[in-house]
Amino acid sequence: MKILVTGPRGFVGARIIAAMDAIPAPSLRDATEDDIRRLVDQVEPDVVIHTAAISDISACAANPEASYRANVALPLMIARAVPKPILFSTDQVYGGCAGEGPYTEDETAPANLYAAHKLEMERRVLDANPNTVLLRATWMYDMPLYGTANRGNFLVNMLRARELAFSAAQRRGVTYVREVARLMPKAVGLPGGVYNFGSENPLTMLETARWLADALGLDIRLTDAGPRHPLWMDCAKARSHGIDFPDTVAGLRQCIEDYNLDLR
Ligand SMILES: NC(=O)c1ccc[n+]([C@@H]2O[C@H](COP(=O)([O-])OP(=O)(O)OC[C@H]3O[C@@H](n4cnc5c(N)ncnc54)[C@H](OP(=O)(O)O)[C@@H]3O)[C@@H](O)[C@H]2O)c1
Repeated sequence: MKILVTGPRGFVGARIIAAMDAIPAPSLRDATEDDIRRLVDQVEPDVVIHTAAISDISACAANPEASYRANVALPLMIARAVPKPILFSTDQVYGGCAGEGPYTEDETAPANLYAAHKLEMERRVLDANPNTVLLRATWMYDMPLYGTANRGNFLVNMLRARELAFSAAQRRGVTYVREVARLMPKAVGLPGGVYNFGSENPLTMLETARWLADALGLDIRLTDAGPRHPLWMDCAKARSHGIDFPDTVAGLRQCIEDYNLDLR
């Protein structure tokens, strides 16, 4: 099976490329629909794993047009051009839902522009190509990877800071991105539709941060950031297809072991 990965130098794409026998796509920042069709005619992929996006919530809010182009129009061009697109969405689509969660795939209420664009994208690509697999990802983490941009993430932020605030009310999954890469072959085999795709987490964000600080013996002051909306996903639908993410604490344990991070 020929797999093309967009955003191969990005946070998620770089890990997918390293884990799978896949072809890296060129940058699609200025690509037209014709460019995408030419690329697909040339590579003839069976599957495209599309990770290229503007994934930063503030960057989307600051430039709604760019967000729409990258997060709605570009995925739509891809969904129209390939037989089996695998696209990334976000747990942010639950940011305005009633109740505490965990939320299933059908109860969405985006509370920021990034999430609204991702939800619009989900609906439009499924209309255009019902084979599309949409993966709603949680916040993901890893150690920095040589040769790729090193944006902050939960783990790196915790290792760098002396003081951080997390909500004692917000429940939210946080996922080891290498688990995402490990499970991509199973995601490729999913029937078209929307899937919550990540680690579940019954702990609050402050409890999760405290767990990590204790596990690594970090010298960090953790305080309560106050109320934040839960983004806690129920991942039973993906699990019923064999997508077996560890829960957030088990994923963090795996990452600590992989990198020998506990140096005490
Ligand atoms: N990271 C997370 O924690 C997280 C959480 C939930 C969901 N997601 C979703 O998961 C997917 C992958 O996220 P990521 O963190 O890997 O993203 P990323 O590293 O921020 O970006 C991936 C790639 O997107 C391309 N890109 C940047 N701006 C673009 C634009 N204006 N138009 C087209 N392409 C552009 C860049 O590739 P080139 O330089 O080659 O153009 C970049 O390397 C995204 O759909 C994101 O929304 C991520």
